[in-house]
Formats: sequence, structure tokens, C-alpha cells
Amino acid sequence: MKYKINNICCIGAGYVGGPTMSVIADKCPHITINVVDLNEERIKNWNNPDIEKLPIYEPYLGEIVGRCRNKNLYFSNLIKEKIQEADMIFISVNTPTKKKGLGAGKASDLKWVEACARQVAKFSTGYTIVVEKSTLPVRTAEVIKSILDDSQKSSKNSAPSKTFNVLSNPEFLAEGSAIKDLLNPDRVLIGGDNNDAIKALCEIYKNWVPEEKILTTNIWSSELAKLTSNAFLAQRISSINSISAICEATGANVKEVSRAIGSDSRIGSKFLNTGPGFGGSCFKKDILNLVYLSEFFGLHEVAAFWESVVNLNSWHQNRISKLITKKLFGTLSNKKIVILGFAFKANTNDTRESAAIQICQNLLEEDAYLVIHDSKVSSKQIEVDLGRKVLLDDLKNNDNSNIFKGGNWDFAQDLSCIFNNADAVVILTEWDIYKSINWEDVSRVMRCPAWIFDTRSILNPIDIKKSDLNFWQIGNGLG
Ligand code: UDX
Ligand code: ADP
Repeated sequence: MKYKINNICCIGAGYVGGPTMSVIADKCPHITINVVDLNEERIKNWNNPDIEKLPIYEPYLGEIVGRCRNKNLYFSNLIKEKIQEADMIFISVNTPTKKKGLGAGKASDLKWVEACARQVAKFSTGYTIVVEKSTLPVRTAEVIKSILDDSQKSSKNSAPSKTFNVLSNPEFLAEGSAIKDLLNPDRVLIGGDNNDAIKALCEIYKNWVPEEKILTTNIWSSELAKLTSNAFLAQRISSINSISAICEATGANVKEVSRAIGSDSRIGSKFLNTGPGFGGSCFKKDILNLVYLSEFFGLHEVAAFWESVVNLNSWHQNRISKLITKKLFGTLSNKKIVILGFAFKANTNDTRESAAIQICQNLLEEDAYLVIHDSKVSSKQIEVDLGRKVLLDDLKNNDNSNIFKGGNWDFAQDLSCIFNNADAVVILTEWDIYKSINWEDVSRVMRCPAWIFDTRSILNPIDIKKSDLNFWQIGNGLG
């Protein structure tokens, strides 16, 4: 093998970089891995001796970090030094949708990727393999390559010269099951045009992934495959969410429909759970990248096709908040609504694009008073997402008050007492603890007529029937 990798630097210690590097470190004890980030607080938290306090919550991540940290896995802000030492550099920085300028609202903002490429161009030494790990628009590798190539040109007269190869190695992990997905991936995709560089990255994965699961392609196919994979998954969710609305209108049950269609092996059973709308950092962003790409190439019908998946998702989220308002007699003023779950799915503390944000904002607009609980999301994060919080001392001191100041929200650490005098409970994330709530007890402390809105379809309607609660369940026309 031409290139042997002894030292990896990963730029970006987020939801992708952190878990991915932890698993590589665990499976490749012979490789030194440095995860670097600009954000000092994030790095401090990655180095926290208490593994419960890592900056991201992901099942089993703490154990792996505990095993490898300061043995062959290091977290620091030493970007320059660690780039200098590396044989291989992973770029795992954030690429949110552009907020302004050309392509605003659709194209990804590549300023962080570009900054990384410039850092690599400046500080790297000798031959370096640069791996794009973040989800990126098609042909981003070209941007990285041209920045690196320019640096090669400018250092032509001064030895030692730097050389690079760029690979695309998109991450397919899903948050909440990241470690499982990394340990046992359906496939690993490596795109590139240099066989020796591709082989060097394959060798790393071969430490735990069977060779037949490692697919190699050209770099553009790899980038496009990642976007397409997420677009197909998101499309399934918009499809089933659209059917949930038809089920409610006709008396059908979406769970039965999902089971029936999912039994067709050509369709398959996964990703057919209806919910409050897909969230997360990837789906919307990746589809909008496809839309932007299609428009750029004049493929307007293709753009409209994919955009409709995102439009359906927004419509669906708004449909849920409208429905809640309607059931509560068309006004939420002076009403307390308990929100169970704020993360975009269970088993993560990530709230990016969570359906909870839009739904809560809509309810606050209607003047509701929200009490929000989540197993892992912090009050601070909800404050960032909802953009306002007024602490109401009178409410805090008087749990039995019926006078709620509308348009505000409060955070609940745990479930004790939060249902007191509430008019409604809305389940937005499928955390396990919500499945074992005793609804008969809850119904005794809520204000009548009290409602449960189950947007994740995690409750058994028979359990609710034992209480005095009114019940709405997504896609359940008989509810
Ligand atoms: C996704 C892809 O699954 C992963 O392969 C890619 O690397 C990154 O994007 P992630 O966003 O972490 O992963 O989570 P995912 O499990 O895909 O869920 C995305 C959203 O869809 C969540 O809001 C989830 O609640 C929702 N969802 C998922 C449904 O509403 N129904 C389903 O059946 C599945
Ligand atoms: P993802 O879900 O893609 O991992 P995150 O936002 O969780 O996204 O993580 C991306 C990380 O990349 C952040 O912690 C951010 O501080 C870091 N980052 C962004 N740009 C740079 C850069 N130029 N150098 C180092 N770290 C960076």
C-alpha cells in the first residue's frame, strides 16, 4: 500500500465529527486521532471527565470516548498544530442553508468548508489526503481541490512542497443511533479519483467493516448519492405524513396502512412512521441543495418535484398546530399546553429543524402558555430556538393558577407537577418515558375538557380511554 495513515485530524467536533472519530479511534488503536474545533466551550465539554456532560448526547458515545480519550483520541483547539501533523484530514464542519445572497434559502453556506480548506492549505505539510465528511452540495470537492491546488502552485518554489488528494466519504449515520450505524453500516461510500488515496481510506474502514460493504465511486457520484439518499428518505416521510391526513379524514388508520404497504418487499417497512414532520440538520438542507442544483441546470420540474417534499413537511407541521387550536375552541389564550419533547427525534439532544420549533412558535402566536419538557435538550437551547422566554415568578410560585400569561413558555426539568391545570398535552418527540405516563392520574389534575395530542403515535388509545381525556392521534381516523 502506497500511503499508510498514522495520524488523522478531524476539523469539526460536532454531531458528525465527534461520534465518527470516536468509533475510528476505538477500532484503530494504531492511529492517533485529533479532533479540533474553533469552539472552545465545545472542546472543553468533550474533555469533561464526566462523560454524561459531553456536548452531544448519543447512546454509547460516552463509553467509547471514556475508553479512547487521551489514549489515541484527543480533543483540542490546536487547529494549526494538528493539521500540520496529519496524514489524513476529515472536514466535518457545519454547512447550513445560506440565509442571504445568491442561493439564499436553498444553497448550502460553504463559508466554513472554505475556511477549513484554507487552513489545510496553509498549515499542512507533505502529502495529505483531505476527506469531505460533512454533507455537501455536489461539486464541493472541486472547491476544496481548487483552494488546495492554488496553495500548491504558490508553494512551488519553496521546499518541502505540499500535495493533496480530495476524497468524498459522506456520513450516513443517523443521530440517536450514530454509534450503531457507524459500527455496522449498510455501506461505506468513498468517492475519489486517486486509487492510492481511496485504498488508504478503505484500509481504515476495513478494520471493522466487511470489504463488500465499502463502495467506491467517482467523487461526484458519492456527493450526489448522499443528497439523494436523504431526499429519498425524507420523501418517504412526507408521503406517509400526507397519507396520515387522509386517514384522519376517512377513518383509516395510518399504522395499518404503513404495515400493509411496508410488507411489500419492493417498498420495505422502514421510514414509514408518521410524525410531526421530519427535522434534523440534513433532510431539508439536502433536498434544498438538490432543488438548487436542478434549477441551476434548468431542470425546473425536477426542482419542483423535490421542493414539494419540503413544502409538504411545512404544511404538515402547520396542520398540527392549527388542529390543536381548533380542538381547543379556536383560542389558546389563557390556556396551558404541556409540550412533551423538543428534540427532532428521540435519543438526541439536537433540535436543528425540529418540528417542535415551528409547532411551538405557532402555538405561542396563538397566545398559549407552554410548559416544555425534553429528556436531553437544555432550557438554554430552547431559548435559542424559540427566541423568547419570560420567567413568570407568579406562575412559578403558584402551580394551581389558572391565569397564564399567553405567548410565553417555561421549561420543566421533570414530569412531576407539569400537568397541573393544563388544558392539553402535545407529544412531539418519541422519548420512552412518555410511553409509561399514567394518563388516568394525569387526567385528574388537568383542566377539563382536557386533550392529549399524540403526534408520534406512541400511546395506546385503549389506555387513554380509561381516563377522561379527549384524544387525538396522528393518522388515526377513529381516535
Ligand atoms: C438522516 C439520515 O437518516 C442519515 O442517514 C443521514 O446521514 C443524516 O440524516 P437524522 O437526520 O440524524 O439522519 O435522523 P433520521 O432518523 O433520518 O430522522 C430524520 C427525521 O425524520 C426525524 O425528525 C424523525 O423523527 C423523522 N422520521 C424518521 C419520521 O418522521 N418517520 C420515520 O419513519 C423516520
Ligand atoms: P454536524 O452535525 O455536521 O457535525 P455541528 O454544527 O454539530 O455540525 O458541528 C460542526 C462543528 O464545526 C462546530 O463545532 C463548529 O464550531 C466547527 N467548525 C466550523 N468551522 C470550523 C473551522 N473553520 N475550524 C474548526 N472548526 C470549525
